Amino acid sequence: MSESFDVKLEAKTYKPDSSYMENSNIGDWETAYNRYLKDPDGFWDGIAKELSWFKPWDAVKEWKHPYAKWFVNAKTNITFNCLDRHVNSELRNKVALIWRGEEEEQERIFTYRQLHREVQRCANALKNLGIKKGDTVCIYMPLIPEHIVAMLACARIGAVHSIVYGGFGAAALHTRIRDASAKVVITADVGYRRGKHVPLKSIVGEAVVNAPSVEKIVVVRRTRPQVELVSEMEIDYYELLNEAGKECEPEVMDAEDPLFILYTSGTTGQPKGIVHTTGGYMVGTYYTTKYIFDLKENDVHWCTADPGWITGHSYIVYGPLAAGATILITETVPDYPDPSVWWKIIEEFGVTIFYTAPTAIRMFMKFGEEWPNKANLDSLRIIGSVGEPLNPEAFEWYHRVIGKSVCPILDTWWQTETGMHMITTLVGEPMKPGFAGKAIPGVQVDVVDKEGNPTPPNVGGLLVIKEPWPSMMRTVHKNDERYRQYWSTIEPFYTAGDLAVKDKDGYIMVLGRSDDIIIVAGHNIGTAEVESALVSHEAVAESAVIGKPDAMKGQAIKAFVILRLGYEQSEKLKNELIYHVRMSIGPIAMPSEIEFVSSLPKTRSGKIMRRVLKAQEMGIDPGDISTLEE
Ligand code: WTA
Repeated sequence: MSESFDVKLEAKTYKPDSSYMENSNIGDWETAYNRYLKDPDGFWDGIAKELSWFKPWDAVKEWKHPYAKWFVNAKTNITFNCLDRHVNSELRNKVALIWRGEEEEQERIFTYRQLHREVQRCANALKNLGIKKGDTVCIYMPLIPEHIVAMLACARIGAVHSIVYGGFGAAALHTRIRDASAKVVITADVGYRRGKHVPLKSIVGEAVVNAPSVEKIVVVRRTRPQVELVSEMEIDYYELLNEAGKECEPEVMDAEDPLFILYTSGTTGQPKGIVHTTGGYMVGTYYTTKYIFDLKENDVHWCTADPGWITGHSYIVYGPLAAGATILITETVPDYPDPSVWWKIIEEFGVTIFYTAPTAIRMFMKFGEEWPNKANLDSLRIIGSVGEPLNPEAFEWYHRVIGKSVCPILDTWWQTETGMHMITTLVGEPMKPGFAGKAIPGVQVDVVDKEGNPTPPNVGGLLVIKEPWPSMMRTVHKNDERYRQYWSTIEPFYTAGDLAVKDKDGYIMVLGRSDDIIIVAGHNIGTAEVESALVSHEAVAESAVIGKPDAMKGQAIKAFVILRLGYEQSEKLKNELIYHVRMSIGPIAMPSEIEFVSSLPKTRSGKIMRRVLKAQEMGIDPGDISTLEE
């Protein structure tokens, strides 16, 4: 699907009340965008100066395609901006973090001063374990305050964090620990999910076998009586903190020193370790929180993602804290004990900014409006969406039922690789359901054909980013070649891997991936990763995986499987294969359907043609099949 193609576009426009524009931090799109275009470096220089630096930059950027440096030679520490800067101001006693557990009474609150103290102690605890600037620490935790503290503690001392989502299984965790050569893994005995335990610590135990870089496992023990720490390797989180000193000066970080690695699914079985650095990432996430999400002093900011995804890194933690927000996190899932739980949280804590995913919105649509209607949602000011296209029906429902036909919806398009929002409709601007919107000021995007020529309005093509931006990834860990590919596929642009189309007003509709990545309930899953998990089962000779449209999850996984000789097709075997994928990658990658086949469509060079399978499945024309083997 790399050719351009025609798309029918029509949309009703929604215009927010003019008070939104009058009070907006950034103003109207056209003025702000032109201000940026006139002097791109000056634009970013101005934003960066709103933050604290130990030493200013010699130049805003240095661009030698495809390598960028931002805020050249500047020194800072992101935790100085997320914590010390506020503790040294009148925000000292402001609530930084609210945590709500699964039970209604479970609540923990940290002011900026308290969070600052916890982070410093945790940072010293890591130092006591021998962690130094540049070492990698893996974090595999439930959504509790210690998770946020651990991230910031790493950043405090210049250790690179690599967070693995707590829903991943042992094999996926193992691959990520090994690739990043993590020295320490921070975890908890359990996470809580629907009243049940998720046994995180035992998954870590399995994952560190044959991961020689790991020296220690730090465990937050939540259950009582406390679980035993069995091996030489395991240490209690709070014992470690109690022994650690109180004060920890922030490490002086070069703007280009790495801040974290975050793995995202690739088109091969091996996930890509996306590397983000300190200065540009800090400026990008701060800017988009303050000026795109229009953050105000009294906002209570709730991003429902997990810190294990980029959305959690940028918009639970770094952006909102750098901007001095009150953030809310919760271990609850949206429908337990019943589908009113999130709406009650909004009412009880007075959430003003709510940022979630289309898959959650569609699930709430299915449950019905009576659940949100039980709560008072008047505190909400702005609502957002991220992770996959927000289809017009879901937009309309979200706007009417949650936003009470008042709140602007920010449908934000971006990626792990971009670090921050790239495309959306600014607060107060007219919104078009189905369209993410336009490039935000500071960013230049376009839709092009495979030669890089802009496609005319209503003609689909590939989404590219034309100029570097501060929070862009700097490399793929141990695979710089893969990094360069992003910038060489349609040179000189950055190719996002998404299909998109622009309308006559320049609004961009993102249609989906152009490669072998499936977005299931907002999570990127590489077909190859699921295929290799299947093939690692003794009964499977070969497999091919495709995404199938699904009303709730956007896409669902269907796997075609060729069995080895001697294995019989059965329902039981199907279930066993699904379980096998669940245990190796995690529940998010579980196929919802398995079909046993005797052959798979392949090119003459032996590559599986997934698009042929997909076309068959959906009863559509498979397109050009001239390379198909007989
Ligand atoms: C998709 C998540 C349509 C897209 C921040 C992208 C979207 C991939 C949107 C990145 C959106 C994300 N509309 N599609 N608003 N937001 N996507 O790395 O295909 O987990 O390339 O980053 O999600 O997913 P990732």
